[in-house]
Amino acid sequence: MSGGIVEVRRRSHPGAGRGRARMRPKGRHVEPRAADEVRTLLGGRPRRRDLLIEHLHLIQDRYGCLSAAHLAALAAEMRLALAEVYETTTFYAHFDVVREGEAPPPEVTVRVCDSLTCEMMGAQSLLQRLPGTLGSDVRVVRAPCMGGCDKAPVVAVGHAQVAHATPETVARAVAGDPLGSFDTGRLQCELNRVRQAHTKLSFNFTT
Ligand code: FES
Repeated sequence: MSGGIVEVRRRSHPGAGRGRARMRPKGRHVEPRAADEVRTLLGGRPRRRDLLIEHLHLIQDRYGCLSAAHLAALAAEMRLALAEVYETTTFYAHFDVVREGEAPPPEVTVRVCDSLTCEMMGAQSLLQRLPGTLGSDVRVVRAPCMGGCDKAPVVAVGHAQVAHATPETVARAVAGDPLGSFDTGRLQCELNRVRQAHTKLSFNFTT
């Protein structure tokens, strides 16, 4: 993959526009291997729907992305509609959905917030400079507000945020330098925001 900026904001999902989603996985074969992997990863964790985002994070952290096979297996394991799992996954900019036939993303993804405050504080400059600074093994993508507007511009490297980001501090964070990244608690704020959104989505699926 080239070092260019990749657009990952996807909002489409299977079943969109086809009316009310069913409450059981439907219309997709669950691959036995993916089912085993998801079952092993979840272990003894409850399969409650309010834990969907946590379970998605487990898969993304383990495999570096969310494949169509793993999403179908997770939907079956949690007895959720596949459309609901996709809806939640594609709503959240920090998940990397890999559809059938697509190549998985590079191991490291750097997300540059381009919402209003970060935009005013230099997001575009970062988006232009980071691919050249970080090289082709690192994917640089745009992302919505991460909740750290008072420290703009903000960049996320994995689960760590870089506040007042510069190409140099982001490069240090990518290299694993703890001085170059901090404030992971902000991601928890976003997670809470997404949980609230998911609760609303779940409500829509069940009413
Ligand atoms: S606008 Fe970038 S973190 Fe809020």
